[in-house]
Order: sequence, then C-alpha cells, then structure tokens
Amino acid sequence: AYVVTENCIRCKYTDCVDVCPVDCFREGPNFLAIDPQECIDCSLCVAECPAEAIFAEDDVPVEQRHMIELNAELARQWPAITQRQPAPADADEWNGKPDKLKLLQR
Ligand code: SF4
Ligand code: F3S
Repeated sequence: AYVVTENCIRCKYTDCVDVCPVDCFREGPNFLAIDPQECIDCSLCVAECPAEAIFAEDDVPVEQRHMIELNAELARQWPAITQRQPAPADADEWNGKPDKLKLLQR
C-alpha cells in the first residue's frame, strides 16, 4: 500500500483524494491516512500531493517507517474522505516543517 507520511500533518491539502480510484483516504482533523486494505498501489496520488508526503510502502524513508503502521491504525478509526476540500489557511507555512508527529490530532 501507499503511505501518508508526517509532512501531511497540518498541510492536509487533500489534492490526493480526488485522484484515488478506490476512495481509500481516511480523514482526521489535520492529517489523512491511506487504508492499506483498500489501496491498489496505482501511485496516482503521489504526484498530486503538494507536500510530497505520499510514498510507496517500500520507499518510505527510514525516519518515517513508523507511519506505515500509523496509517493502518488511523484508517481503522477515521471516516472516508472522497472529495477535495480547501486546505488549512496556514498549510503552506507548515509544508516542510520537521517533527510534526506531535501535532497529529486524532
Ligand atoms: Fe489511492 Fe492509488 Fe494512492 Fe493507493 S496509490 S491511495 S489507490 S491513489
Ligand atoms: Fe496530505 Fe498531501 Fe493529501 S498533504 S491530504 S497527502 S495531498
């Protein structure tokens, strides 16, 4: 499956949602997760993300490997999101900021 990594937190652009053919994005307050049970590895979402937050599971950087299990866990708890929404007003300010995991809201 593909995996959303930490740079999505507080950016949440949601461009990824519109291209997913199987609607496997799940929505939390300030982050999206991919449901690994539903993702068909089409890779379409990768290029859509302005935060470059999405990776194939095998390509997730070492320091982001914890996000693989976290996507699975959050996807079990969160509802589907099937349409793009406006990004947070300060999304661009958060793009690229390090150590955003502590800011994740559940
Ligand atoms: Fe959806 Fe394809 Fe991205 Fe998986 S790789 S989340 S199926 S767009
Ligand atoms: Fe997040 Fe990128 Fe989608 S910031 S909401 S993974 S477009």
